[in-house]
Amino acid sequence: MSRYFNTAGPIRRDDHYYIEPLERLDLQEILTLIEQKKYFILHAPRQTGKTSYLLALMDYLNQQGKYKALYTNIENAQAARENVKKGIQAIMNALAEDAFDRLNDPFLKEKWKDVLEQSGEFSALKNVLSLWCRENEKPIVLFIDEIDALIGDTLIAVLRQMRSGYEKRPGLFPQSIVLCGIRDVKDYRMHSDIEKAIITGGSAFNIKARSLKMDNFTPQEIEKLYHKHTTETGQPFSDNVFPLAWELTEGQPWLVNALAYETCFKMKEGRQRSMEITADMIEQAKENLILRRETHLDQLTDKLKEERVRRIIEPILTCSSEPRNIPADDIDYAIDFGLIKRDGRLKISNLIYKEIISRELTSCTSPSIRD
Ligand SMILES: Nc1ncnc2c1ncn2[C@@H]1O[C@H](COP(=O)(O)OP(=O)(O)OP(=O)(O)O)[C@@H](O)[C@H]1O
Ligand SMILES: [Mg+2]
Repeated sequence: MSRYFNTAGPIRRDDHYYIEPLERLDLQEILTLIEQKKYFILHAPRQTGKTSYLLALMDYLNQQGKYKALYTNIENAQAARENVKKGIQAIMNALAEDAFDRLNDPFLKEKWKDVLEQSGEFSALKNVLSLWCRENEKPIVLFIDEIDALIGDTLIAVLRQMRSGYEKRPGLFPQSIVLCGIRDVKDYRMHSDIEKAIITGGSAFNIKARSLKMDNFTPQEIEKLYHKHTTETGQPFSDNVFPLAWELTEGQPWLVNALAYETCFKMKEGRQRSMEITADMIEQAKENLILRRETHLDQLTDKLKEERVRRIIEPILTCSSEPRNIPADDIDYAIDFGLIKRDGRLKISNLIYKEIISRELTSCTSPSIRD
């Protein structure tokens, strides 16, 4: 099977064209943070390549052999909402399954239920990690993906258990923990039902050493990615495709892949490998993507239902002035979700988003937006 441009989930080296994930952040810097036993955040908007990166880093560290690295995704805990017991249970289960599947390590699978039973949800995660670290000769490095799937007291319980185990690292707690999500943890404002108070991420997880943000592709990376297809199939891209793809996407990784997939694998003329891919074909692909409302684009317009987001987007879209009287928090929120960026002044992140958002807002009076 020949490879293709990936538009669904993390990259797989055998199936997809890709930019080497480990080159997308400064590897030396990350290795130093891990070596210094730091806990840190990796964040970026949806479909930027966070998971692809962490999976590659896990493999890299395990191959190097100094640490035992585990990636886990705690998305399943989302359904627990503020129910701490159910949330912690889902997280411990995910950890145990991932340790078994990815590292062939049964320890957590055998232990987690008893630990939860004995320690209760406010200590169990910490205790089971302690036991696991004690059991392993190598220091553990843990990547927790989709941390912002958690809310309220569940999120607070996780952050506090990390904080309380922190002093015991690396012998009795992970050497390094990376929390990964869309937002920086310091920007979380969590409502604690139990304490009847707002707790900020900065206070619940004040052991955080750094927040790293993953950027979009550069124009060179777009060209490099598209060239992989030319190398494998012989199908050329005309020179003006690359600046156009940049102009339309500003490097947003999913959009870059989706445009090329649409052109080279879905559109009839593009499927002929003897045919050069032209700028007109890319324009057509853009139209198709917008009309089809792929999930990535749907997630975007979904955000427009939030009043705090619409208050920012509308003035940016309709006039050239900066939105006024908008809390800085709300602007950061829209930036973190990848809707807008600061490029001298605030602007919509790329032309495709701009087009979708303006179409959405002009049908604006659509009930979904007014509601
Ligand atoms: N290294 C890469 N090379 C090429 N494309 C990539 C790369 N990493 C990510 N992508 C593109 O981004 C998409 C999402 O990748 P991934 O699932 O790793 O990102 P994510 O930030 O974890 O997304 P989500 O927010 O949905 O969890 C892929 O389907 C692909 O289109
Ligand atoms: Mg992901």
